[in-house]
Amino acid sequence: MSYLIRQMGHVVISSPDPEAAAQHLSDVVGLRITERDGDSVYLSSNNRHHEVTYVKGEAAVLACGLEAVSAEAVDEVMARAKSDGLTILSDAPMGKHYDRAVRIVAPGGSIFEIHTPIARTEPHRYIGGGGPRPKRIEHMNSFSGDTAAFGEFCEKVLSMQLSDRTSDDGLRWYRAQDGFHHTIAMGTGPEMLHHYAFDHHSMEDLVRIADNLTIKDEAMVWGPGRHGAGSNIFTYYADPHGCIVENSVEMAHIDNDAVYHPRAWDISEGLAGRWLNQWGTPPTPGFLAGGLKFAS
Ligand SMILES: [Fe+2]
Repeated sequence: MSYLIRQMGHVVISSPDPEAAAQHLSDVVGLRITERDGDSVYLSSNNRHHEVTYVKGEAAVLACGLEAVSAEAVDEVMARAKSDGLTILSDAPMGKHYDRAVRIVAPGGSIFEIHTPIARTEPHRYIGGGGPRPKRIEHMNSFSGDTAAFGEFCEKVLSMQLSDRTSDDGLRWYRAQDGFHHTIAMGTGPEMLHHYAFDHHSMEDLVRIADNLTIKDEAMVWGPGRHGAGSNIFTYYADPHGCIVENSVEMAHIDNDAVYHPRAWDISEGLAGRWLNQWGTPPTPGFLAGGLKFAS
């Protein structure tokens, strides 16, 4: 099966104060503001025009963007979504500097925008952004009341590959063409975006993020630790809307689909098990309570 999705695209969040939200992400994680347009603020950590957009409104997630391999792939996803009777919110791009898009409500309520690549208009290196400057936006993790239906959407509509799952099938991780262990992660629960994640250069970057939170009199909600699925080192904090932001290094890369077999993680030890954090510290209440609803 050939891929339709190449990699994580962007996240669009509606915020009562887009400027403050953008400044917070810039101060703590290090993305820089690439453009302001009316009440919208665009940020990026690399040469893409944007990876995160905050727009004015009640706090909610408007969409998680996935970069398609081509314009034809966008059309194919739209055709499959229509065939499955899914709600199509729009076939026009939400943001700037990409030509084609379709916005779909996945089974369970997560909103995805499948889009052609966002233009690489920005310099790789930049001045600005008080944080350590990630490599890229890496993945998203949302909850659904029906993980089986959400997973089937990833496989049948998006042609993504299952990387791992838990033995009870309550959590699944899916990868795109770029081969990183997961671009979409999902859990079972009330529909919301639990977290979005950035890939960093080194553990030192995660240290700086913790220090930046301290300077702001804030704190991480979990980590550092090393996940089982994906094997990445993680820290988490809550953004100004209560959505969790993960900062990550060493995400596993699957270099050959033909010889990779998804793992079913034994979760009999519950959230305290090494399947979730190989280093052993269980998630905190603050981590578990985080997340931001999708716009209705
Ligand atoms: Fe994650």
